[in-house]
Amino acid sequence: MNSLEQCRLIDLPKIHDARGNLTFVEGERHIPFDIKRVYYLYDVPGGAERGGHAHRDLHQLIIAMSGSFDIVLDDGREKKRFHLSRSYYGLYVCPMIWREMDNFSSGAVCLVLASNLYDEADYYRNYDEFIRDVI
Ligand code: TYD
Repeated sequence: MNSLEQCRLIDLPKIHDARGNLTFVEGERHIPFDIKRVYYLYDVPGGAERGGHAHRDLHQLIIAMSGSFDIVLDDGREKKRFHLSRSYYGLYVCPMIWREMDNFSSGAVCLVLASNLYDEADYYRNYDEFIRDVI
């Protein structure tokens, strides 16, 4: 069964350089899945909330590429809030975890690495339905 314990902050490699730092992510090496899709949230207005869903099979790594925001993860038993604010670590979210995102700073960019292509059938968009299946 998937639980919050499997979700964790993952430190990514960071190459320090006076010309600017560099971070990279390799699927199956730095994160526990292969990367099939990349998407990002940007121009998020102040006070906006994103997320509000869970995925049946999708694994994700969520990174604050710029600015900061909060993510609340919920496995149906407990909830945990994470604050993301740097581009050299990410939050790994396993399948069957409800997530809400808020507290976006101005200029925040949220990068998501995902284990599969976009598939609406993979979403739970109704919290009660998610709870029914996860408990
Ligand atoms: P959604 O996943 O609900 O956004 P968030 O969790 O960030 O609030 O997606 C918003 C809309 O974008 C929804 O209509 C589906 C569409 N979408 C795609 O077409 N492809 C994608 O890869 C993603 C992530 C979303």
